[in-house]
Parts: sequence; structure tokens; C-alpha cells
Amino acid sequence: MLNYRKGLDEMPSYDGVERDYRIKVNANECTMNLPPLVEERVIYGLYFVGLNRYPNEEYYSLVEQIARNFSVKPEQILIGGGSSEIIEKVFHTFGGDGNKVVYPVPSFSMYKIYAKAADSQAVPFALDKNFDIDVDKFIATVKSENANLAVICNPNNPTGNALTVDDVEKIAKSIDCAFLLDEAYVEFYGHSAFKLVAKYPNLIVARTFSKAYGLAGARVGYSIANAEVTKMIGKTFMPYHMNKLSLVTADIVYQMRDEFLPRIQMTIAERKRMAERLKKIPALEVFTSHTNFILIRHEKAEALKNYLESIDIGIRYFSPSAQELKNCLRISIGTREENDEVFKAISDWLTTH
Ligand SMILES: Cc1ncc(COP(=O)(O)O)c(C=O)c1O
Repeated sequence: MLNYRKGLDEMPSYDGVERDYRIKVNANECTMNLPPLVEERVIYGLYFVGLNRYPNEEYYSLVEQIARNFSVKPEQILIGGGSSEIIEKVFHTFGGDGNKVVYPVPSFSMYKIYAKAADSQAVPFALDKNFDIDVDKFIATVKSENANLAVICNPNNPTGNALTVDDVEKIAKSIDCAFLLDEAYVEFYGHSAFKLVAKYPNLIVARTFSKAYGLAGARVGYSIANAEVTKMIGKTFMPYHMNKLSLVTADIVYQMRDEFLPRIQMTIAERKRMAERLKKIPALEVFTSHTNFILIRHEKAEALKNYLESIDIGIRYFSPSAQELKNCLRISIGTREENDEVFKAISDWLTTH
């Protein structure tokens, strides 16, 4: 008889359905591989990796590089297996014992799962019907619930909207507990709140290489926080939790991050172009986005998703259990050609249905 850990049975699973598509715009990845010059350097760099030794130098080299870029101390940086691992560890650092975690809904669906995994009590905070957050109400909820951790995703996935840095500061200043700011998409928004870390020791900023830097497959993310808080979060990681191949890859990508700027600009321009075209389709609700994706709503969303899948285009449909995202679809921004094809498929189908 196998006795699983108490509560594991009821633990929700991540509901992203993953398979390959001819056009895969369902997971907010970068649809292009690395810029050729970066790829060449990465391949060359990987050639010299000594896999017989545990990763030490490689970890600290990336930490130092990131610290230098943000003008913080290396003791303020942690690297994780994607920002997923960073977020999970932050939940573990401040969770347990039924400690409460307040996070907005709809937002990144993993927060609920991390709360459960950390034996914390999830306190979902409802966004309004336009998916905006009432900052004062959020602060009041964190306080009245006596929460140990508050989470904000900025810009928010899957809605695409964003808080100003002033609003983020208002939250950081007004709450006493730990405040995790998930900036997975911030490169497409341009307004990071990382500087607030110097002022607010409760603030932990999580970032990723998976989106703007196209390294979803390498699984690298990092956090910027106060040194003492970073030390405590660091205790929840296993020794040598990062592998050398990913560290060396991320190190080279980070050194060459300017090579990614034209792509980020292209994504922002394409997002604008797609949104403008989609807005012209009657009966389609299009939400403002500051990310590399756009959220839309249509009463036949599921049928539209099925049609797109039938022609090998994968977009994100949210399970009917996520009531607040009823009839919503999320489309990641791809190349101009991919976006044109996705747009044409959507508009053709909608004119006949
Ligand atoms: C808001 C948000 N945070 C974190 C992540 C995790 O990304 P990764 O683990 O690839 O860094 C994602 C992935 O889609 C996300 O959307």
C-alpha cells in the first residue's frame, strides 16, 4: 500500500496542454531560436564545459554579471531552474504552517499550486471585470488576512495588463509581509520595479530568461532581493541545483543581451499590430497587453481553439473551471508571418461562424 503525502491527491496539476504545433503560440515562448551570433557563441562556450565537476564558477559568474547589471551586490541574486523554481522557493520560504498567501486571480495559475505545495493557505484576490487590480483593496486584504506572502505578476499573465511602478511601491510600502513581484514579461513592458529592492527589504523580484531571451528550454530564472532575504530563500535550494549547460548558456546570452533588443522591439510592434487588427473584428473582446501575448474573448472561444488546432495552430484556451477566464483565449506573439497566419485563420473562421 502506497501512502502518499497528505494533501497530494487534491493538489491541482498545471493545466497547460503541451504538444507541438506548426505554429505554437500557446505558451508565451519566443517562437525563434537564439540570434545566430549568440547561438554560435553558446555552442562554442558549451564545448569547454567540464561536466565532471559540480557547477560553482558558472553559477557565480552569472550571479555577478546580473548583480553588476542591476547595480546590486551578488548576495542579492539567486539563480533558479526558470523563475518557476525561484517562485516555488519563495513560497517555501514564507509558507508552511498554513501561512496565508494572497495573489490575484486570474493570474499565473501556478501560484495556487505553489501555495498548496508549501502547505500554505491560498487567498485568491479577484481582479475586477476588466482584470484591473484595486490596489487599496489588495493592500487591505493582505493586511486583514494577516498574510505572510503577497504576490503580484507585473505585467500580469494571462491578462496582459500592468501596474505602474508607483502602484508597486505603494503595495511594498503598505504591507509588512514578503512581497513577490513576478516580472516574467517585464522586458515587453519596460518598467521594472527592481530599484525598489534597495528601499523595501520585503520585496523580491523574480525574472526569467524564458521569454524575452528565448531560453525557455534551458530553464533559467533569477531573483533580486535584499541580501538577508536572499540568504534565507537560498536555504531552500538543493546544493548545485543548476546545471552547467544552462548556466553557461544563460551567461553568454546575458553578455549578449543587446542582440535581443531588436526582437523585443519587434514583439512589441507586432503586439500592437495584432491588437489593432483583432480589435476590428466585431464580437471579439481584445484586452490591452504589455507582454508578448494578447488575451481575447469570444463566445465561441472553445470552437475557435478547436478549429485552430485542426489546422495545427496552438493557442491557449483556459479550462472552463477558470470561470473568470470564461471564453478567453491567449495568443503569444510570434514572427510577423506567424502572426499574419494566426490572424487570418481567426478572422476567416469568425466570419463564417
Ligand atoms: C507569470 C509567469 N511567471 C513565471 C513563469 C515561469 O517561467 P519560467 O519558469 O520559464 O521562468 C511563467 C511562465 O509562463 C509565467 O507566465
